[in-house]
Amino acid sequence: MAPVTDPCSFSSFSKCLTRHLNLILRVDFDSRTIRGKVALTVEVLEDKFSVLTLDTKDLKIFKVSANGQAAKFELGAQQGYKGSPLEITLPFELSRGQNVIVEVEYETSPSASALQWLSPAQTAGKKHPYLFSQCQATHCRTMLPCQDMPSVKHTYYAKVSVPKELIAVMSAVRDGQEPDPSDSSRVIYRFRQPVPMTSYLIALVVGALESREIGPRSRVWSEKEYVDQAAFEFSETETMLKTAESLSGPYVWGQYDLLVLPPSFPYGGMENPCLTFATPTLLAGDRSLSNVIAHEISHSWTGNLVTNKTWEHFWLNEGHTVYLERMIGRALEGEQFRQFKARGGWKELQEAVHQFGENNVLTNLVPSLKDVDPDDCFSCVPYEKGFALLYYLEELLGGPEVFMGFVKSYTQLFAYRSVTTKEWKDYLFTYFKDKLDILNKVDWNGWMYTPGMPPVKPQYDTTLADACIALAQRWQNAKDADLSGFSEADIKQLSSHQLIEFLALLLLEDPLPQSHVKRMQEVYNFNSVKNSEIRCRWLRLCVKAKWEEAVPLALKMATEQGRLKFTRPLFRDVYNFDKFRDVAVKLFKEHRDAMHPVTATLVSKDLKVDQRTGF
Ligand code: BES
Ligand code: ZN
Repeated sequence: MAPVTDPCSFSSFSKCLTRHLNLILRVDFDSRTIRGKVALTVEVLEDKFSVLTLDTKDLKIFKVSANGQAAKFELGAQQGYKGSPLEITLPFELSRGQNVIVEVEYETSPSASALQWLSPAQTAGKKHPYLFSQCQATHCRTMLPCQDMPSVKHTYYAKVSVPKELIAVMSAVRDGQEPDPSDSSRVIYRFRQPVPMTSYLIALVVGALESREIGPRSRVWSEKEYVDQAAFEFSETETMLKTAESLSGPYVWGQYDLLVLPPSFPYGGMENPCLTFATPTLLAGDRSLSNVIAHEISHSWTGNLVTNKTWEHFWLNEGHTVYLERMIGRALEGEQFRQFKARGGWKELQEAVHQFGENNVLTNLVPSLKDVDPDDCFSCVPYEKGFALLYYLEELLGGPEVFMGFVKSYTQLFAYRSVTTKEWKDYLFTYFKDKLDILNKVDWNGWMYTPGMPPVKPQYDTTLADACIALAQRWQNAKDADLSGFSEADIKQLSSHQLIEFLALLLLEDPLPQSHVKRMQEVYNFNSVKNSEIRCRWLRLCVKAKWEEAVPLALKMATEQGRLKFTRPLFRDVYNFDKFRDVAVKLFKEHRDAMHPVTATLVSKDLKVDQRTGF
């Protein structure tokens, strides 16, 4: 078989491996740049080694040295999202097994796609600027030169100089602070990450942060305006950590802190080691969106300990994490709840397959990413097709306890390593060596390398879904004369989870008539709901029904927060409402400069607005 290569990186994991990073960073809010010095400890894997390629994007490189001696370097031409290869020629030759310390002095660009620089006006406190990073999948190279590929794992140590009224935190253990000896208006924060991890998990936030203790190994961080609410919302963190440990084994990262970001953070959560990042849209007031925290906690095993070898195997990260997330849900809420969520996930997968088109190869569980930017094909497919496969195998192989035994054994065996789908499958066959007759009947090619819905639909218990299904059908079948039959009482007994499912079911079907959504507002008053998962689906339903009054509300939600899961469909739905297409485009253009770089790029593609930084 051909050796595994990474289509998303210029570097190579067969020639050398970074083992440690030492970072010295100076964060400058005036120029919106980070000036840095990174020392990479690199282990050489071949003889006569003298050339090393690192990933960079939009970086200025000032100086490179190897073991203290000046080294020649050349920055190649930019190639789309991948950036520019930095080719370093060592002034000496090395043999297999030797180490070299390569030091690079560099500066980031104000438009680095890993970083969002917020003005004081864009923060809750309005007084201080704010900076946050988001490296997954391929953005770390805009923050520092590195082997930006998930097959390479290293420890790190960092010293970060910031204005002294601000606080810096990273995806690592805090290691104290000291005044910046070169500038009395600054302070240096130190961090250490002693567990080997990959570049996409390096994370930095600088802002006017406060924190509260929420458990024996957990604090919650945010601007002071959110911090008490966040401490309430995430008070179940330790319970979830303990549950996750009972399923998967010891938590190895020491601290588990949470950081609530400003509303433009593009994801629901991000599993940065020691410091999960979370969107403020989780602060619904009723802890109902805690599955995101269960999900990010689960990544401490699947993703951060056992990592996808390239982004083509992303389902290994997300599919197993959704599986663990739902096992935590099972331990805390019961098996019916897990089955309800599993069924909801299958529906989401149907929607995504419909969106992409059922023959689109990006709906493969294991897609080819040759010339594809992982951001462009991000969807729920690796999550929900991945989960569906694991859930299907669980059913075949003996149920949740039996299959969880495999997942735990897989995370323990492959801990601190990166794996391919083939390695995962080989281990599945080894673990279940007594059940090969069952495993050999699975349509592996259908599940993994074929677009569209999976070849088999697993079974789901519908106890909790039945009420949602019945109510959605009542609305779909209602004639105008039936609308008076709906009342507030219809939804009195439904949980937030069930309301989300009810709206999701309606979104899968043809748009409702305008009369129906107007009546739904009268009886259920969804306009006043704060829960972002409910609000987004509700506003989409109204816009699809072409209810004009909902358009300003949809656009408000699309711009007041920037979570891709909400902002992209809201913008897209208004864009598809002919009469408001221009309004959507104009509003996007007005907001673009204040948006997160990844969100701005993806929405501009969705709305077919020309990009300024063309490639
Ligand atoms: N690691 C992902 C977020 C991510 C994926 C960022 C790919 C960049 C590229 C994170 O763990 C995640 O999946 N978040 C979900 C949470 C949900 C599945 C509970 C989200 O953001 O919605
Ligand atoms: Zn995830």
